[in-house]
Amino acid sequence: MRIVMTGATSGLGEETARRLLARDDVTLTIGSRSGAGDLPESDRLTVLPLDMARLADVETFCERVGEKEPIDALVLNAGLQLSKPATSPDGIELTFAVNHLAHFLMIEQLRGRLAEGARVVLTASGTHDPKEKAPVTPPDHANVDWLAYPDRDPQLPKGTRQRVMRAYSTSKLCNILTAHELARRHPEVATLAFDPGYVPGTGLAREYPRWLMAIVSRIIVHSMAKDRTSTVPVSGGYLAELAVDPRHADAAGEYWSVRGTDLLKVEPSTLARDDDAARKLWNDSAALLAALRT
Ligand SMILES: NC(=O)c1ccc[n+]([C@@H]2O[C@H](COP(=O)([O-])OP(=O)(O)OC[C@H]3O[C@@H](n4cnc5c(N)ncnc54)[C@H](OP(=O)(O)O)[C@@H]3O)[C@@H](O)[C@H]2O)c1
Repeated sequence: MRIVMTGATSGLGEETARRLLARDDVTLTIGSRSGAGDLPESDRLTVLPLDMARLADVETFCERVGEKEPIDALVLNAGLQLSKPATSPDGIELTFAVNHLAHFLMIEQLRGRLAEGARVVLTASGTHDPKEKAPVTPPDHANVDWLAYPDRDPQLPKGTRQRVMRAYSTSKLCNILTAHELARRHPEVATLAFDPGYVPGTGLAREYPRWLMAIVSRIIVHSMAKDRTSTVPVSGGYLAELAVDPRHADAAGEYWSVRGTDLLKVEPSTLARDDDAARKLWNDSAALLAALRT
């Protein structure tokens, strides 16, 4: 089974990669800007350079991945959370560029290289849903133009923290809408969106001081449901399961969420279930990529 993965060098993705490598039937190709990280050496592990902030890098990665045998599972887990607004080398908002657009480009470029019965798993987040009451500004829309170029967004929050947090939650909304639309357009591909819950101790908040994260953790425990906090082994293990377990072979864009120690199929937010928003996000993302290539 050939698996291609992003975000395999840290946090829950590293745990997922370890679990996958522990299986004799898996060969794993990871895209990484930091080598193999702490993953164990294995002749079933291939590490290809990839900075997802650069679309040209993503294209080169896809070309190299596409040269080998068909892919059985695409695990799109890389993600970042900024502490202050930043722009990618291609001139678009960095969170949107890495968390959504780079993964969308990978799906576009690697879809023709998927094996029969292949699956695509996108790591999203409960922060996309205002009902979760996460201490993260929720999305207002999934407008590609406004997300890529936030200065054009008439609803752009004024405060820096609200702005970067909304960029994060919205990029995760985009992951769910992408899974939804991929399943509609290509029902032959098993597609899933994954919410790992709140997983403290990963590198996601690396730009924030520890004292602030300690406060945030306390707020999360009080504001969110008790079962929304998870651990790296639990959530990383479930992501590996979604990638390989035959029970998910017929997945059609569902959203799976870690609740306590369980993995449950749940409904995402109202906006994440909007067919028109999903179709528009897909079309406008493709148009943006075409415009950026010229
Ligand atoms: N932790 C949580 O509470 C939580 C909750 C909900 C959803 N999530 C999602 O879970 C996923 C994994 O996050 P995590 O918490 O495990 O964080 P993490 O430890 O920071 O892992 C993020 C991964 O993404 C990679 N990545 C980030 N920017 C990249 C870039 N420009 N190019 C290539 N790779 C890049 C990182 O690579 P490097 O090693 O090179 O930095 C790392 O492997 C993310 O999609 C995140 O949004 C996390």
